[in-house]
Amino acid sequence: MNDDLTPDATGNDDLTRDATGNDDLTRDATGSSRRAVLKAGVVGAATVGLTVTGLAGAQEPAAALTLTPSCTDGDDTPRNIEGPFFKPNSPLRTDLVTGGVTGVLLNLTGRVYNLRCQPVAGALLDFWQADSRGAYDNRTFTLRGHQFSAADGTFRLNTIVPKDYPGRTIHIHVKVQARNGPVLTTQLFFPDNTRAYGMNVRALNARDRYINRECTITLGPPGANRYDGTFDFVIRVA
Ligand SMILES: [Fe+2]
Repeated sequence: MNDDLTPDATGNDDLTRDATGNDDLTRDATGSSRRAVLKAGVVGAATVGLTVTGLAGAQEPAAALTLTPSCTDGDDTPRNIEGPFFKPNSPLRTDLVTGGVTGVLLNLTGRVYNLRCQPVAGALLDFWQADSRGAYDNRTFTLRGHQFSAADGTFRLNTIVPKDYPGRTIHIHVKVQARNGPVLTTQLFFPDNTRAYGMNVRALNARDRYINRECTITLGPPGANRYDGTFDFVIRVA
């Protein structure tokens, strides 16, 4: 079963049509855009760097090859399907580790940029995700929250690494919107070497229909039941 294929209660918007259909999103995922071409060049450079590091004796995790979308490549962060579990009116909070929430902690930080690489202040970021058992709370607002980027465009989300659920690799849903700008609905993914809940994230990522590696969180090394991660959004502001 693939829950994210089910159109959500708010009706058939463009993203839902993309999910069940076959156009823009598929093209993004398969990487025929200018962005993908640019990324290919950057990946090549990263690979060279990794090789040099390897020669020096250090074993760099494969995650080093994963790239976060950048404002410098001239494109905005790719969108992705909303899925069936979005709920409007989430609480205003940056800390989603509320009572009863357990799991591998994730401190996610980053910035919101516009296409000219300028920080976007006051952008709405609305996050929602599954818990450490792969379940969404659709009754209350556990692991849901919205916040606004700071004057320098930064945001900070205190949460947990989600677990996978049938048909999907691990991901965090998010909507990002500058004041009076269009809503970017997308999903953040995790590197193949993410360690949590005994999951084989590499295998999960490999078979996920909706994964977009450009939207992979950059994770630091695993700590004591926690990760630090970064992700920058690039959004259209009008
Ligand atoms: Fe989901």
